[in-house]
Amino acid sequence: MASFGGPSVFKDMGKLDFDYLPPGLPHREAQLDQLTGLFRPVLQGGRQTAFLIGSVGTGKTAVAKHFSKLIMEAGQKHNRRVDAIYVNCRRRSSDKAVLLQLVRYFDKHFPDRGFSSSEMIDTFARFLVKNNTHALIILDEADVLLKKKTDLVYLLSRFDEETGSSKKSVSVMLISQQDLFPLMDSASASTFGRTNIISFGKYSNTELLSILEQRIDLAFKPGRVEPEVGDLIADIASEWGDARYAIELLTKAGMAADDEHKEEVGAEHARAAKAHTHSIVTDSKLAELDIHKKLVLLACARSLKNKAYSITGDIEKNYHVACEGQGEEARKHTQFWKYIKDLEALGLVDTKVSHGQGGTTTMVTIRDIPVKVLEEKLMAFLGGIR
Ligand SMILES: Nc1ncnc2c1ncn2[C@@H]1O[C@H](COP(=O)(O)OP(=O)(O)O)[C@@H](O)[C@H]1O
Ligand SMILES: [Mg+2]
Repeated sequence: MASFGGPSVFKDMGKLDFDYLPPGLPHREAQLDQLTGLFRPVLQGGRQTAFLIGSVGTGKTAVAKHFSKLIMEAGQKHNRRVDAIYVNCRRRSSDKAVLLQLVRYFDKHFPDRGFSSSEMIDTFARFLVKNNTHALIILDEADVLLKKKTDLVYLLSRFDEETGSSKKSVSVMLISQQDLFPLMDSASASTFGRTNIISFGKYSNTELLSILEQRIDLAFKPGRVEPEVGDLIADIASEWGDARYAIELLTKAGMAADDEHKEEVGAEHARAAKAHTHSIVTDSKLAELDIHKKLVLLACARSLKNKAYSITGDIEKNYHVACEGQGEEARKHTQFWKYIKDLEALGLVDTKVSHGQGGTTTMVTIRDIPVKVLEEKLMAFLGGIR
């Protein structure tokens, strides 16, 4: 058993947190250069919009946060104040919630009710004037917001026209795993333009290796990770090109070594880490699902206990049961369908259409994790009520 304060291979586990921003981002120089080029006009009084697109764990959030620092520093040198304000739209998934976070950047105590969206926009505009600053608003996971038919993206992209500002006071950066243009109304799409897209490809094996080596230096005591461990983890994670998964494996491998009171992290610990994390069904991915997606996924797991494929009708029944167990009101059929599609987009379930006498039916399956394990994990997240 691991014990607090016992010997450890780690010197600073905090450097493995997903929120920790390392001093440099290997293999993302090209994206940072592109951003620097795009946003140069902002320092001369202009504004800009940009899209960051790529699959999970390709460094989009890390690059956006790193770039925030760079542009704020450059602003100081150019005598143009820039405030980069980061908003995660999965956590703040309505226009008002996003606006509240924007206003609170300047006024921590701004009340969370009693103001309309347009009042909050005006307040935000006044803060920008008062502080003589340009805001770079970063909307991460923007697809979550755009799927709700928001006005905010449009309003922010035309902020100065809308608020009658004589300056160019707002730039917008949108981040998403999927193309956002199909989710936008034509007016927003045209203000954004298709030119400012920055793509993030999946990391290759060697790229993951250098990302891992950086974390090994930062988080582990010197010489405590055997050289092949990095190679092995990079190999495992390269199937998905996902740096988040690679770092999660490295963390769990270190913890496995500590559990066994070993001085060094070896290949067996990396393998044990892989056995604990189920490929793309990582804890972090499950944690990010909202409650109804968790409940639909739970229903899929339960429907698939004794079979490889399940019809959606059975899953929907199980979803209603799961909702009851959690005291949640089940969403309507069309919304349930959307959840299935969203879970598929996240790679958590797969669907196939089968053509029978009764027409076509959709069959759902789960490939990457034993459904029993998935059910246990989800129940742990949901608080264990059955
Ligand atoms: N090029 C890189 N160098 C160092 N760490 C990276 C790099 N790319 C991603 N990471 C790390 O991997 C994890 C996932 O990256 P993140 O930016 O959250 O991915 P995304 O937003 O694309 O899903 C974070 O811990 C991040 O710090
Ligand atoms: Mg991200």
